Amino acid sequence: MRAAGEREGEGFEVTEGLIGGAAIDATGQPLPAETLKLCRDSDAVLLAAIGGYKWDTLAPELRPERGLLSLREGLQCFANLRPATVLPQLVDASSLKREVVEGVDIMIVRELVGGIYFGQPRGFRTNDAGERVGFNTMIYSESEVERIAHVAFKLARKRKSRLTSVEKSNVLEVSMLWKEVVTRVGQAYPDVALSHMYVDNAAMQVIRNPRSFDTLVTGNIFGDILSDAASMLTGSLGMLPSASIAESGPGIYEPVHGSAPDIAGQDIANPMAMVLSAAMMCRYGLDLPGMAERLEGAVTAALDAGYRTKDLMSEGKREGIRKDHVEFQYSAANQAAGHK
Ligand code: NAD
Ligand code: IPM
Ligand code: MN
Repeated sequence: MRAAGEREGEGFEVTEGLIGGAAIDATGQPLPAETLKLCRDSDAVLLAAIGGYKWDTLAPELRPERGLLSLREGLQCFANLRPATVLPQLVDASSLKREVVEGVDIMIVRELVGGIYFGQPRGFRTNDAGERVGFNTMIYSESEVERIAHVAFKLARKRKSRLTSVEKSNVLEVSMLWKEVVTRVGQAYPDVALSHMYVDNAAMQVIRNPRSFDTLVTGNIFGDILSDAASMLTGSLGMLPSASIAESGPGIYEPVHGSAPDIAGQDIANPMAMVLSAAMMCRYGLDLPGMAERLEGAVTAALDAGYRTKDLMSEGKREGIRKDHVEFQYSAANQAAGHK
Protein backbone atom coordinates (compact mmCIF):
# COMPACT_ATOMS: atom_id res chain seq x y z
CA MET A 1 0.00 0.00 0.00
CA ARG A 2 2.86 2.35 0.80
CA ALA A 3 4.50 1.69 -2.56
CA ALA A 4 1.20 2.19 -4.38
CA GLY A 5 0.52 5.35 -2.36
CA GLU A 6 3.90 6.79 -3.26
CA ARG A 7 3.34 6.20 -6.94
CA GLU A 8 -0.19 7.62 -6.81
CA GLY A 9 0.89 10.56 -4.67
CA GLU A 10 -1.69 9.56 -2.05
CA GLY A 11 -0.99 9.86 1.63
CA PHE A 12 -2.78 7.78 4.24
CA GLU A 13 -2.29 7.18 7.89
CA VAL A 14 -2.11 3.66 9.29
CA THR A 15 -2.73 2.83 12.94
CA GLU A 16 -2.61 -0.71 14.31
CA GLY A 17 -4.89 -2.34 16.85
CA LEU A 18 -4.87 -5.76 18.45
CA ILE A 19 -7.60 -8.36 17.88
CA GLY A 20 -7.87 -12.13 18.27
CA GLY A 21 -5.07 -14.18 19.80
CA ALA A 22 -2.63 -11.27 19.97
CA ALA A 23 -5.22 -9.22 21.90
CA ILE A 24 -6.05 -12.14 24.20
CA ASP A 25 -2.37 -12.60 25.03
CA ALA A 26 -1.87 -8.90 25.71
CA THR A 27 -5.17 -7.98 27.42
CA GLY A 28 -7.22 -11.11 28.05
CA GLN A 29 -9.91 -9.85 25.65
CA PRO A 30 -10.30 -10.84 21.97
CA LEU A 31 -11.54 -7.34 21.07
CA PRO A 32 -10.23 -4.70 23.50
CA ALA A 33 -12.42 -1.56 23.73
CA GLU A 34 -9.42 0.42 22.55
CA THR A 35 -9.29 -1.50 19.28
CA LEU A 36 -13.00 -1.08 18.64
CA LYS A 37 -12.70 2.65 19.23
CA LEU A 38 -9.68 2.90 16.96
CA CYS A 39 -11.65 1.12 14.22
CA ARG A 40 -14.71 3.35 14.74
CA ASP A 41 -12.50 6.42 14.39
CA SER A 42 -10.91 5.20 11.15
CA ASP A 43 -12.07 5.48 7.56
CA ALA A 44 -11.59 1.77 6.95
CA VAL A 45 -10.37 -1.34 8.74
CA LEU A 46 -7.95 -3.79 7.13
CA LEU A 47 -8.15 -7.01 9.07
CA ALA A 48 -5.62 -9.80 9.16
CA ALA A 49 -6.90 -13.26 9.96
CA ILE A 50 -7.55 -14.32 13.54
CA GLY A 51 -7.45 -17.71 15.25
CA GLY A 52 -5.05 -20.49 16.09
CA TYR A 53 -4.67 -23.75 17.99
CA LYS A 54 -3.36 -21.95 21.08
CA TRP A 55 -6.74 -20.33 21.75
CA ASP A 56 -9.05 -23.13 20.59
CA THR A 57 -9.93 -24.35 24.08
CA LEU A 58 -10.97 -20.98 25.52
CA ALA A 59 -14.60 -20.28 26.47
CA PRO A 60 -16.72 -19.12 23.50
CA GLU A 61 -16.79 -15.46 24.56
CA LEU A 62 -13.01 -15.36 24.97
CA ARG A 63 -12.04 -16.98 21.67
CA PRO A 64 -10.35 -15.02 18.87
CA GLU A 65 -13.37 -15.67 16.63
CA ARG A 66 -15.58 -13.78 19.06
CA GLY A 67 -13.31 -10.78 18.65
CA LEU A 68 -13.90 -10.77 14.91
CA LEU A 69 -17.66 -11.27 15.31
CA SER A 70 -17.85 -8.44 17.86
CA LEU A 71 -15.95 -6.13 15.52
CA ARG A 72 -18.35 -6.91 12.66
CA GLU A 73 -21.31 -6.41 14.98
CA GLY A 74 -19.81 -3.33 16.65
CA LEU A 75 -19.35 -1.59 13.31
CA GLN A 76 -22.65 -3.04 12.00
CA CYS A 77 -20.92 -4.32 8.88
CA PHE A 78 -23.94 -6.29 7.71
CA ALA A 79 -23.09 -6.69 4.01
CA ASN A 80 -20.17 -8.96 3.28
CA LEU A 81 -19.12 -8.96 -0.38
CA ARG A 82 -17.07 -11.97 -1.39
CA PRO A 83 -16.10 -11.94 -5.06
CA ALA A 84 -14.90 -15.23 -6.54
CA THR A 85 -13.26 -14.35 -9.82
CA VAL A 86 -11.26 -16.81 -11.86
CA LEU A 87 -8.21 -14.99 -13.21
CA PRO A 88 -7.10 -16.17 -16.66
CA GLN A 89 -3.60 -16.91 -15.28
CA LEU A 90 -5.05 -19.32 -12.73
CA VAL A 91 -7.56 -21.27 -14.78
CA ASP A 92 -5.41 -24.38 -14.43
CA ALA A 93 -4.85 -23.88 -10.70
CA SER A 94 -8.44 -24.83 -9.90
CA SER A 95 -9.22 -28.36 -8.83
CA LEU A 96 -12.00 -28.23 -11.42
CA LYS A 97 -11.64 -28.47 -15.18
CA ARG A 98 -10.65 -25.43 -17.24
CA GLU A 99 -13.91 -25.54 -19.23
CA VAL A 100 -15.92 -25.37 -15.99
CA VAL A 101 -14.10 -22.47 -14.33
CA GLU A 102 -12.96 -20.29 -17.22
CA GLY A 103 -14.61 -16.87 -17.02
CA VAL A 104 -16.26 -17.46 -13.64
CA ASP A 105 -17.17 -14.23 -11.87
CA ILE A 106 -19.47 -14.68 -8.88
CA MET A 107 -20.29 -12.10 -6.24
CA ILE A 108 -21.44 -13.66 -3.00
CA VAL A 109 -23.35 -11.23 -0.79
CA ARG A 110 -23.39 -12.69 2.70
CA GLU A 111 -25.44 -11.24 5.57
CA LEU A 112 -22.84 -10.80 8.30
CA VAL A 113 -24.29 -9.59 11.58
CA GLY A 114 -27.37 -11.77 12.01
CA GLY A 115 -28.65 -15.30 11.52
CA ILE A 116 -27.44 -18.28 13.50
CA TYR A 117 -24.15 -16.56 14.36
CA PHE A 118 -25.86 -14.02 16.59
CA GLY A 119 -29.36 -15.43 17.30
CA GLN A 120 -30.55 -15.84 20.88
CA PRO A 121 -30.99 -18.08 22.76
CA ARG A 122 -27.70 -19.86 22.38
CA GLY A 123 -25.52 -21.86 24.68
CA PHE A 124 -25.20 -25.18 26.46
CA ARG A 125 -27.65 -26.76 28.88
CA THR A 126 -28.65 -30.10 30.28
CA ASN A 127 -31.74 -31.80 28.89
CA ASP A 128 -34.33 -33.86 30.79
CA ALA A 129 -32.28 -37.00 30.27
CA GLY A 130 -29.36 -35.31 32.05
CA GLU A 131 -27.41 -35.05 28.83
CA ARG A 132 -25.56 -31.89 27.73
CA VAL A 133 -26.94 -30.16 24.66
CA GLY A 134 -25.60 -27.25 22.65
CA PHE A 135 -28.03 -24.94 20.87
CA ASN A 136 -28.17 -21.91 18.58
CA THR A 137 -30.98 -19.96 16.99
CA MET A 138 -31.19 -19.11 13.34
CA ILE A 139 -33.23 -15.94 13.20
CA TYR A 140 -33.77 -13.08 10.73
CA SER A 141 -36.13 -10.14 10.98
CA GLU A 142 -37.81 -8.64 7.93
CA SER A 143 -35.70 -5.48 8.16
CA GLU A 144 -32.46 -7.47 8.34
CA VAL A 145 -33.37 -9.38 5.18
CA GLU A 146 -34.57 -6.21 3.47
CA ARG A 147 -31.34 -4.30 3.93
CA ILE A 148 -29.10 -7.09 2.66
CA ALA A 149 -31.49 -7.73 -0.24
CA HIS A 150 -31.28 -4.07 -1.30
CA VAL A 151 -27.47 -4.25 -1.30
CA ALA A 152 -27.57 -7.43 -3.39
CA PHE A 153 -30.09 -6.11 -5.94
CA LYS A 154 -28.11 -2.89 -6.36
CA LEU A 155 -24.88 -4.81 -6.83
CA ALA A 156 -26.51 -7.24 -9.27
CA ARG A 157 -27.64 -4.24 -11.30
CA LYS A 158 -24.01 -3.15 -11.72
CA ARG A 159 -23.10 -6.69 -12.82
CA LYS A 160 -25.11 -8.98 -15.09
CA SER A 161 -28.43 -8.22 -13.38
CA ARG A 162 -28.96 -11.79 -12.22
CA LEU A 163 -29.49 -12.49 -8.53
CA THR A 164 -29.81 -15.91 -6.88
CA SER A 165 -31.16 -15.94 -3.35
CA VAL A 166 -29.97 -19.00 -1.46
CA GLU A 167 -31.82 -20.44 1.55
CA LYS A 168 -33.44 -23.60 2.91
CA SER A 169 -37.10 -22.62 2.71
CA ASN A 170 -38.18 -26.22 2.14
CA VAL A 171 -37.38 -26.84 5.82
CA LEU A 172 -36.65 -23.68 7.81
CA GLU A 173 -39.15 -20.97 8.77
CA VAL A 174 -36.32 -18.42 8.89
CA SER A 175 -35.68 -19.22 5.22
CA MET A 176 -39.37 -19.03 4.29
CA LEU A 177 -39.39 -15.47 5.59
CA TRP A 178 -36.07 -14.76 3.85
CA LYS A 179 -37.47 -15.88 0.49
CA GLU A 180 -40.69 -13.92 0.95
CA VAL A 181 -38.87 -10.70 1.86
CA VAL A 182 -36.27 -10.99 -0.93
CA THR A 183 -39.10 -11.53 -3.43
CA ARG A 184 -40.91 -8.48 -2.11
CA VAL A 185 -37.79 -6.30 -2.27
CA GLY A 186 -37.24 -7.58 -5.80
CA GLN A 187 -40.40 -5.85 -6.99
CA ALA A 188 -38.46 -2.59 -6.82
CA TYR A 189 -35.81 -4.06 -9.14
CA PRO A 190 -37.77 -5.40 -12.12
CA ASP A 191 -34.63 -5.19 -14.26
CA VAL A 192 -32.85 -7.78 -12.08
CA ALA A 193 -33.69 -11.44 -12.77
CA LEU A 194 -34.26 -13.01 -9.34
CA SER A 195 -34.12 -16.76 -8.79
CA HIS A 196 -34.29 -18.85 -5.61
CA MET A 197 -32.24 -21.90 -4.76
CA TYR A 198 -31.97 -24.24 -1.79
CA VAL A 199 -28.54 -24.11 -0.22
CA ASP A 200 -27.78 -27.81 -0.75
CA ASN A 201 -28.50 -27.48 -4.44
CA ALA A 202 -26.52 -24.23 -4.58
CA ALA A 203 -23.46 -25.96 -3.10
CA MET A 204 -23.69 -28.47 -5.93
CA GLN A 205 -24.44 -25.96 -8.71
CA VAL A 206 -21.50 -23.74 -7.71
CA ILE A 207 -19.22 -26.68 -8.47
CA ARG A 208 -21.20 -28.08 -11.42
CA ASN A 209 -21.91 -24.93 -13.37
CA PRO A 210 -20.36 -21.90 -11.67
CA ARG A 211 -20.84 -19.67 -14.69
CA SER A 212 -24.60 -19.90 -14.18
CA PHE A 213 -24.17 -17.58 -11.15
CA ASP A 214 -23.78 -13.84 -11.26
CA THR A 215 -24.71 -12.35 -7.88
CA LEU A 216 -25.75 -14.55 -4.99
CA VAL A 217 -27.35 -13.37 -1.74
CA THR A 218 -27.59 -15.51 1.35
CA GLY A 219 -27.56 -15.62 5.14
CA ASN A 220 -24.57 -15.67 7.44
CA ILE A 221 -23.73 -19.35 7.74
CA PHE A 222 -24.71 -20.37 4.20
CA GLY A 223 -22.54 -17.54 2.85
CA ASP A 224 -19.63 -18.63 5.02
CA ILE A 225 -19.73 -22.14 3.61
CA LEU A 226 -20.51 -21.27 -0.01
CA SER A 227 -17.68 -18.73 -0.20
CA ASP A 228 -15.06 -21.25 0.91
CA ALA A 229 -16.43 -23.70 -1.67
CA ALA A 230 -16.42 -21.02 -4.39
CA SER A 231 -12.81 -20.17 -3.57
CA MET A 232 -11.66 -23.42 -5.12
CA LEU A 233 -13.00 -22.26 -8.48
CA THR A 234 -10.36 -19.52 -8.36
CA GLY A 235 -7.53 -21.88 -7.51
CA SER A 236 -7.21 -21.29 -3.78
CA LEU A 237 -8.83 -19.89 -0.68
CA GLY A 238 -5.71 -17.73 -0.61
CA MET A 239 -7.09 -15.71 -3.55
CA LEU A 240 -10.41 -14.50 -2.06
CA PRO A 241 -10.74 -10.98 -0.66
CA SER A 242 -13.81 -9.52 1.00
CA ALA A 243 -15.41 -6.23 1.96
CA SER A 244 -17.87 -5.86 4.83
CA ILE A 245 -19.92 -2.73 4.53
CA ALA A 246 -22.09 -0.86 7.01
CA GLU A 247 -24.89 1.61 6.35
CA SER A 248 -22.54 4.30 7.65
CA GLY A 249 -19.08 4.30 9.20
CA PRO A 250 -16.00 2.28 8.32
CA GLY A 251 -16.09 -1.03 6.51
CA ILE A 252 -13.91 -4.05 7.28
CA TYR A 253 -11.69 -5.47 4.55
CA GLU A 254 -10.31 -8.94 5.09
CA PRO A 255 -9.41 -12.13 3.28
CA VAL A 256 -12.03 -14.89 3.29
CA HIS A 257 -9.46 -17.33 4.65
CA GLY A 258 -8.36 -17.74 8.24
CA SER A 259 -4.96 -17.78 9.87
CA ALA A 260 -3.98 -21.05 8.16
CA PRO A 261 -2.24 -22.42 11.27
CA ASP A 262 -1.42 -25.66 9.47
CA ILE A 263 1.12 -23.81 7.32
CA ALA A 264 2.15 -21.08 9.77
CA GLY A 265 5.83 -20.17 9.86
CA GLN A 266 6.65 -21.93 6.60
CA ASP A 267 6.66 -18.81 4.44
CA ILE A 268 4.28 -20.38 1.95
CA ALA A 269 1.00 -18.54 2.63
CA ASN A 270 -0.56 -16.83 -0.36
CA PRO A 271 -0.67 -13.08 0.31
CA MET A 272 -2.93 -12.28 -2.64
CA ALA A 273 -6.27 -12.40 -0.79
CA MET A 274 -4.84 -9.88 1.66
CA VAL A 275 -3.47 -7.63 -1.10
CA LEU A 276 -6.79 -7.84 -2.96
CA SER A 277 -8.64 -7.00 0.28
CA ALA A 278 -6.49 -3.88 0.57
CA ALA A 279 -7.48 -3.10 -3.01
CA MET A 280 -11.17 -3.46 -2.12
CA MET A 281 -10.54 -1.17 0.84
CA CYS A 282 -8.97 1.48 -1.40
CA ARG A 283 -11.85 1.27 -3.85
CA TYR A 284 -14.88 1.04 -1.55
CA GLY A 285 -13.64 2.38 1.78
CA LEU A 286 -11.13 5.11 0.99
CA ASP A 287 -12.24 6.24 -2.45
CA LEU A 288 -8.74 5.74 -3.85
CA PRO A 289 -9.48 3.87 -7.08
CA GLY A 290 -6.01 4.56 -8.49
CA MET A 291 -4.42 2.74 -5.60
CA ALA A 292 -6.90 -0.12 -5.92
CA GLU A 293 -5.88 -0.55 -9.53
CA ARG A 294 -2.20 -0.56 -8.62
CA LEU A 295 -2.69 -3.21 -5.95
CA GLU A 296 -4.73 -5.38 -8.30
CA GLY A 297 -2.11 -4.70 -10.95
CA ALA A 298 0.59 -5.95 -8.59
CA VAL A 299 -1.25 -9.25 -8.20
CA THR A 300 -1.78 -9.66 -11.94
CA ALA A 301 1.81 -8.69 -12.67
CA ALA A 302 3.17 -11.20 -10.17
CA LEU A 303 1.01 -13.93 -11.69
CA ASP A 304 1.97 -12.88 -15.22
CA ALA A 305 5.62 -13.05 -14.18
CA GLY A 306 5.02 -16.67 -13.19
CA TYR A 307 5.09 -16.42 -9.42
CA ARG A 308 2.96 -18.98 -7.62
CA THR A 309 2.59 -19.85 -3.97
CA LYS A 310 2.31 -23.53 -3.20
CA ASP A 311 -1.49 -23.50 -2.79
CA LEU A 312 -1.79 -22.57 -6.48
CA MET A 313 0.30 -25.47 -7.68
CA SER A 314 -1.43 -28.80 -7.77
CA GLU A 315 0.76 -31.79 -8.51
CA GLY A 316 1.04 -32.54 -12.20
CA LYS A 317 0.19 -29.00 -13.21
CA ARG A 318 3.57 -27.43 -12.87
CA GLU A 319 4.45 -26.82 -16.48
CA GLY A 320 4.95 -23.19 -17.21
CA ILE A 321 5.41 -22.34 -13.56
CA ARG A 322 8.76 -20.99 -12.51
CA LYS A 323 9.98 -23.56 -10.04
CA ASP A 324 12.88 -21.36 -9.03
CA HIS A 325 10.41 -18.99 -7.45
CA VAL A 326 8.03 -21.27 -5.67
CA GLU A 327 7.71 -18.80 -2.85
CA PHE A 328 6.33 -15.38 -3.46
CA GLN A 329 9.10 -12.80 -3.55
CA TYR A 330 7.84 -9.46 -2.37
CA SER A 331 10.62 -7.45 -3.95
CA ALA A 332 10.18 -9.14 -7.30
CA ALA A 333 6.45 -8.60 -7.15
CA ASN A 334 6.92 -4.93 -6.42
CA GLN A 335 9.30 -4.63 -9.29
CA ALA A 336 6.83 -6.34 -11.57
CA ALA A 337 4.09 -3.97 -10.41
CA GLY A 338 6.38 -1.00 -11.04
CA HIS A 339 6.89 -2.08 -14.62
CA LYS A 340 3.17 -1.98 -15.30
P1 NAD B 1 -8.19 -21.38 7.13
O1 NAD B 1 -8.88 -20.53 6.14
O2 NAD B 1 -7.23 -20.72 8.04
O3 NAD B 1 -7.42 -22.55 6.36
C1 NAD B 1 -8.10 -23.51 5.57
C2 NAD B 1 -7.10 -24.17 4.62
O4 NAD B 1 -6.74 -23.25 3.60
C3 NAD B 1 -5.82 -24.59 5.30
O5 NAD B 1 -5.34 -25.77 4.73
C4 NAD B 1 -4.87 -23.44 4.99
O6 NAD B 1 -3.52 -23.80 4.95
C5 NAD B 1 -5.36 -23.00 3.61
N1 NAD B 1 -5.15 -21.56 3.44
C6 NAD B 1 -5.87 -20.56 4.01
N2 NAD B 1 -5.36 -19.38 3.67
C7 NAD B 1 -4.31 -19.62 2.88
C8 NAD B 1 -3.36 -18.77 2.23
N3 NAD B 1 -3.41 -17.44 2.32
N4 NAD B 1 -2.37 -19.36 1.50
C9 NAD B 1 -2.32 -20.68 1.39
N5 NAD B 1 -3.18 -21.54 1.98
C10 NAD B 1 -4.16 -21.01 2.73
O7 NAD B 1 -9.35 -22.13 7.95
P2 NAD B 1 -9.25 -23.13 9.19
O8 NAD B 1 -8.01 -23.94 9.11
O9 NAD B 1 -10.55 -23.80 9.23
O10 NAD B 1 -9.16 -22.17 10.44
C11 NAD B 1 -7.93 -21.77 11.04
C12 NAD B 1 -8.18 -20.64 12.04
O11 NAD B 1 -8.55 -19.46 11.35
C13 NAD B 1 -9.31 -20.93 13.02
O12 NAD B 1 -8.95 -20.42 14.27
C14 NAD B 1 -10.48 -20.16 12.44
O13 NAD B 1 -11.45 -19.81 13.37
C15 NAD B 1 -9.78 -18.96 11.88
N6 NAD B 1 -10.48 -18.30 10.77
C16 NAD B 1 -10.37 -16.94 10.76
C17 NAD B 1 -10.94 -16.23 9.73
C18 NAD B 1 -10.78 -14.75 9.70
O14 NAD B 1 -9.98 -14.19 10.44
N7 NAD B 1 -11.52 -14.04 8.88
C19 NAD B 1 -11.56 -16.91 8.67
C20 NAD B 1 -11.62 -18.30 8.71
C21 NAD B 1 -11.06 -18.99 9.78
C1 IPM C 1 -15.01 -16.08 7.90
C2 IPM C 1 -14.65 -16.90 9.11
C3 IPM C 1 -15.41 -16.39 10.32
C4 IPM C 1 -16.90 -16.61 10.05
C5 IPM C 1 -15.04 -17.00 11.67
C6 IPM C 1 -13.57 -17.03 11.92
C7 IPM C 1 -15.74 -16.30 12.80
O1 IPM C 1 -14.88 -18.25 8.89
O2 IPM C 1 -14.79 -14.86 7.91
O3 IPM C 1 -15.46 -16.65 6.90
O4 IPM C 1 -17.41 -17.70 10.26
O5 IPM C 1 -17.54 -15.65 9.62
MN1 MN D 1 -15.34 -18.70 6.79
